[in-house]
Amino acid sequence: MKLYADSANVETVVPLLLDGLIRGVTTNPSIIARDGVTRNDLARLYDEFSAAGADEIFMQATGGSREDLLADSFRIADFGDRIVVKVPATPDGFRVARELQRRDVPVLLTAVYSLAQATYASAIGVEYIAPYFGRLVDSGEDGLAKVSNMTKVLASTRTKVLVASVRSPNAAATLALNGVGHITADVPVLLAMMVDPVTEQSAAEFERVAAQSSTDPVDSIG
Ligand code: E4P
Repeated sequence: MKLYADSANVETVVPLLLDGLIRGVTTNPSIIARDGVTRNDLARLYDEFSAAGADEIFMQATGGSREDLLADSFRIADFGDRIVVKVPATPDGFRVARELQRRDVPVLLTAVYSLAQATYASAIGVEYIAPYFGRLVDSGEDGLAKVSNMTKVLASTRTKVLVASVRSPNAAATLALNGVGHITADVPVLLAMMVDPVTEQSAAEFERVAAQSSTDPVDSIG
């Protein structure tokens, strides 16, 4: 499993990168706005995430036309060799993704909702697709079945499924159980994945016992 932080918040993401707990970072215009940065900050974010050890940094291109989308994709690709350019899985996005592929720029097609889109993405050989699990469920779909089917269809291709909109530790675990190998989630979800109340109790008990035995006379004889 490869885990990524779906965030543009340097303060919360960099410690996870420095501790080696995530592979990289994913962002999009909504996340950028949520975390109080702008498009002009993307190059700086790339440098900070890269310096902290991110293997892959996903940043999304925008543009009202195919030409603008392609131009913004090149601007983002120029940040460095850890960039994966995200483009939305629209008809223009597919065309831009194909053009980027031709020029050896790694691409992720984002907001993939259908198996047909996933199939097409693999046909043009993009590195990643990002289905939005939580939003699929919100829209009344069987999100797990849909993402599992995308994983099956793409299993023998070079295209990997990086699932986004993963809103809880349980969702992440269920996706992993169903064959998903790449997940991006907001930092609080990633942190919560490492916590279980029973583990916390056990760890506290170990500490209590260890503290007692270090003052035990038998211990001090040895
Ligand atoms: C990622 O690209 C998406 O913006 C994100 O995962 C969506 O998450 P949400 O559906 O919880 O807003």
